[in-house]
Amino acid sequence: MNFELSSEQKLIRDSARDFANNELLPGVIERDELKQFPQSQIKKMGEMGFMGMMVNPKYGGGGMDTVSYILAMEEISKIDASCSVIMSVNNSLVCWGIEKYGTDEQKNKFLPELASGKIIGAFCLSEPEAGSDATSQKTTAKDMGDHYLLNGTKNWITNGSTASVYLVIAQTDIEKGHKGINAFIVEKSFDGVTIGPRENKLGIRSSDTTSIMFSDVVVPKENRIGDDGFGFKFAMKTLEGGRIGIAAQALGIAAGAYELSLKYAKERKAFGKEIIKHQAIAFKLADMATEIDCGRLLCIKAGWQKDNDIDYSQTGSMAKLYCAEKAMRITTEAVQIHGGYGFVKEYHVERLMRDAKITQIYEGTSEIQKIVISRFILK
Ligand code: CAA
Repeated sequence: MNFELSSEQKLIRDSARDFANNELLPGVIERDELKQFPQSQIKKMGEMGFMGMMVNPKYGGGGMDTVSYILAMEEISKIDASCSVIMSVNNSLVCWGIEKYGTDEQKNKFLPELASGKIIGAFCLSEPEAGSDATSQKTTAKDMGDHYLLNGTKNWITNGSTASVYLVIAQTDIEKGHKGINAFIVEKSFDGVTIGPRENKLGIRSSDTTSIMFSDVVVPKENRIGDDGFGFKFAMKTLEGGRIGIAAQALGIAAGAYELSLKYAKERKAFGKEIIKHQAIAFKLADMATEIDCGRLLCIKAGWQKDNDIDYSQTGSMAKLYCAEKAMRITTEAVQIHGGYGFVKEYHVERLMRDAKITQIYEGTSEIQKIVISRFILK
């Protein structure tokens, strides 16, 4: 077994690290405070190839492996988790979903602009009453012969107001339960699409999260993804990969907080010596370093399984569960190590702590990951 990254993977990791430090770090505190969408930063991320990393180059993507994507997600999340969630949704949900299950026409039409970051996409599954319980879709898509008529409301949509393309999950036949659910590509420009106001969030504040209302939206038949009734499985398969991306995001948030804490602990003196020389602090850092390494191994294992066509559902959920829980713990400890400085914005760790919380909630709460993992155990 070889734990060494390839030279290409190292190059991608290092260029993501440089990019995050040079282009994302300046202004990250202000963007968070002002809920300012990172427009120019996302444009640059597109130019750098971070918005469609795994997409086949024939559709304008980077043709990279999932492990490279994880490495880039970690580095970008160390500095700005708002940028990394925008990146993650575009890469692992929208581009991957279309490339894996779309028709040639859908791929040719949507992937080049999405993969280059010229436009971004959103994944619309959650509803006011269907978050964890994803089969309880109230949004309906009525079959009208040559088109569907879409009606309903989606909630908590990442990239809600900035996306041009939405993957929308909707109920086409209530009698059939989850087998009556379909997935559609809906363009923001379609008549009847209304975007709600941006949410004022605890964390990832500069990413835009909105509700989206669909009122008698005419969706052409050719915009359905997969066979009739495939929508729920489409959502589940797409989320399996999405969870690896969010695991890497949580890992990056934790690693960012650890690196800041290590630096601070080497500089800050108390009781006559650097605080890292106090065992109380050194032990905290030792725990953090161990947990980050475990999380990284889980993420890379899930990515490696995906790249090698091995079922990655369980490992992806384990990585998401573990990294999200550890991100919350490690960022809280980072604030503790920084003391009063940790509680003010200039030292970044309070933002990382706020950002960490969402990783326990979106793309399936920690409890949902335990459902997925325990089903594998019970099999
Ligand atoms: N792959 C393929 N098929 C799957 C599957 C998977 N991973 N998981 C379930 N299915 C299939 C089942 O086999 C079953 O099909 P059959 O009847 O043909 O066998 C069908 O789907 C229904 O499955 P379940 O009975 O297991 O469904 P359930 O109601 O018990 O729910 C769940 C399962 C895992 C809890 C699921 O509802 C779930 O993952 N919920 C969380 C949803 C979620 O992650 N939401 C996040 C929103 S997106 C987001 O956050 C994006 C963002 O903006 C950042």
